Amino acid sequence: MSAPQVLDFKNAEEVLKEYDGRDGLSVTELMDAKVHGGLTYNDFLVLPGYIGFPASDVQLDSPVTKRITLKSPFVSSPMDTVTEHDMAIHMALHGGLGVIHHNCSPEAQADMVRKVKRYENGFIVDPVVIKRDTTVGEAKALKEKWAFGGFPVTESGKLGSKLLGIVTNRDIQFVDDDEMPVSKVMVTELITANSGVTLVQANSILAQSKKGKLPIVDDKGNLVSMISRSDLTKNLHFPLASKLPDSKQLICAAAIGTRPEDKVRLAKLVDAGLDIVILDSSQGNSMYQIEMIKWIKKEFPELDVIGGNVVTREQAASLIAAGVDGLRIGMGSGSACITQEVMAVGRPQATAVYNVCQFASRFGVPCIADGGIQNVGHIVKGLALGASTVMMGGLLAGTTESPGTSFVSREGKLVKAYRGMGSIDAMQDKKAGGGAKDSQKSNAGTARYFSEGDSVLVAQGVSGAVAHRGSIAKFVPYLAAGLKHSLQDSGMTSLEEMHRKVTEGVVRFEIRTPSAQLEGGVNMESYEKKLYA
Ligand code: IMP
Repeated sequence: MSAPQVLDFKNAEEVLKEYDGRDGLSVTELMDAKVHGGLTYNDFLVLPGYIGFPASDVQLDSPVTKRITLKSPFVSSPMDTVTEHDMAIHMALHGGLGVIHHNCSPEAQADMVRKVKRYENGFIVDPVVIKRDTTVGEAKALKEKWAFGGFPVTESGKLGSKLLGIVTNRDIQFVDDDEMPVSKVMVTELITANSGVTLVQANSILAQSKKGKLPIVDDKGNLVSMISRSDLTKNLHFPLASKLPDSKQLICAAAIGTRPEDKVRLAKLVDAGLDIVILDSSQGNSMYQIEMIKWIKKEFPELDVIGGNVVTREQAASLIAAGVDGLRIGMGSGSACITQEVMAVGRPQATAVYNVCQFASRFGVPCIADGGIQNVGHIVKGLALGASTVMMGGLLAGTTESPGTSFVSREGKLVKAYRGMGSIDAMQDKKAGGGAKDSQKSNAGTARYFSEGDSVLVAQGVSGAVAHRGSIAKFVPYLAAGLKHSLQDSGMTSLEEMHRKVTEGVVRFEIRTPSAQLEGGVNMESYEKKLYA
């Protein structure tokens, strides 16, 4: 028998063309439910491609709605142990988006939206302004409420009126007499700039002055806006911050339900500056949601609406036809979720993401893959299957910026509370260790899991704790760096290129058998799993 012919190595690329198709499976082959059933993120892998560029070149820009694009495709869940203003601010500063939960009164939720919108500004066009007879006690309360100090004092206590002085923290901090009017302590020798000044000029005047704020006045000395020294440093440190092109303010999203009272709530949120509303429902394909989408589009045409949750093409079609600007995909895949077990309704997340995204992309509607993200690999897979962004609850609940404080578990680990919004705890609105004050609580945010007439609460979620993870300031950059390295491995320079090449069948996949999943895990006697440094 003659030995098999050894081919000339120089012909390797040519010989490859003799093969029928590329190695691995195309996304349509992977997602053939008749062959593989419903898939989860753990059931498959992305095959590597060709690395012809450094990971730092990978672009992560991605749309979250038809109109709004984020620089990082990360969104935090509207849950009362995940997203309040602190999380929303820090997600936005790092290029993502926080969706403020609605398990609180409309006023408390609107207050949080306002805090996000006021957080970082070029020109602060709606500063908190006080009058000369505002008391020191009232000024201290305002500082407490807004978490910033330095209030301009004007004749009428409003913008557009004659600037009289500024009251800073230093002026009131050690004043014991809370009844004293601020006119007795305010600074009246002011450095100001005239309206018409550019942001660059104003920043430079502020940088040279020893002051914390630079009021901008018109030619009659009336206050028109302000810039703040703390914003100067924020602008420098957060080049990815999520902002609309014509605004210096952070983009803010919040969730509401689909009940008549949610229309009143939404009006308050819009008044506070809301950019995106998410209709929070575990099964979004309902007459209530469709009516709500149409109403919002008519009443607030400037507001972007994300509908959901959906897991099938049919559900998506209803909401797309009603006019949504984005969709949220997932039913039963959340880490605190028992929906699939209790309701027997839902869909494995990878299959849901693929089917909905494939359909929605034909209408230019971006999709959020919501729930079941436990690591960077899951993020990559959700995005590879067509999602534009991923929404995370449990993964972010352990960060410093989530509501509540960390505590030591019975096992001696540092943890933070995390609960499903359909857990009995959340539905009865017991305190989860943080968030809105008790007086501001309401169980509106859990309405997605029960109807008013229900005499028995049926849990669709659990409550417990997750490991403390440190600050978003490190964690989100870690997720972004991991994602960039993964895209580099598959040879993709951007999420847009990955979506295109997955559809074209260039990006290939492989099913992971149970033993392949074991093989892919760590096989050691003992080890420490440190994810980033
Ligand atoms: P995680 O990132 O896997 O923890 O999932 C977060 C997602 O779970 C949220 O964005 C919601 O869509 C979903 N979710 C939140 N609470 C519940 C619940 O009680 N039951 C079912 N799903 C929930």
